[in-house]
Amino acid sequence: MEETMKLSETLEKCKECTRCPLHQTKTNTVFGVGNEDAALMFIGEAPGEKEDESGVPFVGPAGKLFDKYLEYVGIDRNEVYIANILKCRPPRNRDPLPEEEDACIVYLREQVRAIRPKIIVCLGRVAAKRLISPDFRITAQHGKWFDAAGFKMCAVYHPSALLRDTSKKADMLKDMKMIKEVYDSLK
Ligand code: URA
Repeated sequence: MEETMKLSETLEKCKECTRCPLHQTKTNTVFGVGNEDAALMFIGEAPGEKEDESGVPFVGPAGKLFDKYLEYVGIDRNEVYIANILKCRPPRNRDPLPEEEDACIVYLREQVRAIRPKIIVCLGRVAAKRLISPDFRITAQHGKWFDAAGFKMCAVYHPSALLRDTSKKADMLKDMKMIKEVYDSLK
């Protein structure tokens, strides 16, 4: 049986990680932030520039937009946990490579095992393909629930996609309201 590591132990391991080349170009490891007993966990793609600078996920322009949705639907950012598939920034914010995801997913697995959320929400296509299904279609399947490994999982548009295409914002609001309702019902 695999042992559950404490988040602090996983963080220390992750900071020293050399499992893929991204550790050579990162400024900071962006491990995760929030409530370590959270019932609701959000998982994005990879750190961007501001996250790399600060070591905190979702603090740049996409993060600021995401915060507005959290606030609008009444979810306190401090009561959830937020992490990414990759803990180091890919150069120029390119998409994560499959081998980088393979190398880094061990840390996310340990985070999920330690936090034991009831709901996992993927922020965007990259996380949904990795965590829900490789065939995941974000346009058709955002806001739909999946049961996987004992978690309720769903995906919403990535906040960066909303910055590029504002026509997706209405769907995001609907999905976030629905997530809040399910979250409240499980509390
Ligand atoms: N985009 C992500 O997917 N994660 C972050 O932390 C920031 C931007």
